[in-house]
Amino acid sequence: MEHKIIVVGIGPGHPDYLIPRAAAAIREASYLVGSQRALDTFAGPDATLRRIDGDLDSLFTDIATALKNSDVVVMVSGDPGFYSLQPALKARFGAEYELKVIPGLSSIQIAFAHHGLVWQDAELLSVHGRELALEKWQYRSGRKVAFLTDATMHAAAIAEHLLAMQWPTDAEVFLGRNLSYEHEEKKCCILQEATKMEGWQHCVMIVIG
Ligand SMILES: C[S@@+](CC[C@H](N)C(=O)[O-])C[C@H]1O[C@@H](n2cnc3c(N)ncnc32)[C@H](O)[C@@H]1O
Repeated sequence: MEHKIIVVGIGPGHPDYLIPRAAAAIREASYLVGSQRALDTFAGPDATLRRIDGDLDSLFTDIATALKNSDVVVMVSGDPGFYSLQPALKARFGAEYELKVIPGLSSIQIAFAHHGLVWQDAELLSVHGRELALEKWQYRSGRKVAFLTDATMHAAAIAEHLLAMQWPTDAEVFLGRNLSYEHEEKKCCILQEATKMEGWQHCVMIVIG
């Protein structure tokens, strides 16, 4: 119980979007975990670095070893409370170690802001490596849905799926990718056009029916 895990939300990726408290935790980390991109962007010179790869068992074994000697800082993209490693860390280590969470700006928040849309009335969903229950796809007039996407369930695939669920062809679509980076892109179109959008894999897709 002596040491703790600090889960830090790094926001959408660019350091300008990192909150100062998160920056301090990363700066002070002696054992720092994150994606290669996060480590390249945020790691200081003194921390021991552990890259997150596909092998969670081995990652958790390394974290357990590190916790014997120090706190462990785990960087996750966006906000830890929205589709991140946080629940798995809590399930594995929560009984033994304190888990402290530092929030970050979710890619969803950035996408809504960039398109000048509010999200208080939106349903926030993820098809990033997960399937949605059928009712989540259903059409209802005025429904506003935001999706986190991935390489399989990319924007075009989601658009196809929604059309098959009777969403109108002219439903409004707002896309954002590489948000916060120099090469970020945003696009607005209708649902029918979104079926032809290539390359919109890891992005935020907002659909208003
Ligand atoms: C594992 S989820 C993590 C979500 C994260 N916790 C959040 O709050 O944004 C990864 C997905 O988030 C979205 N995402 C994360 N960063 C992004 C960015 N900079 N631009 C666009 N989408 C992003 C993409 O849909 C990506 O596939």
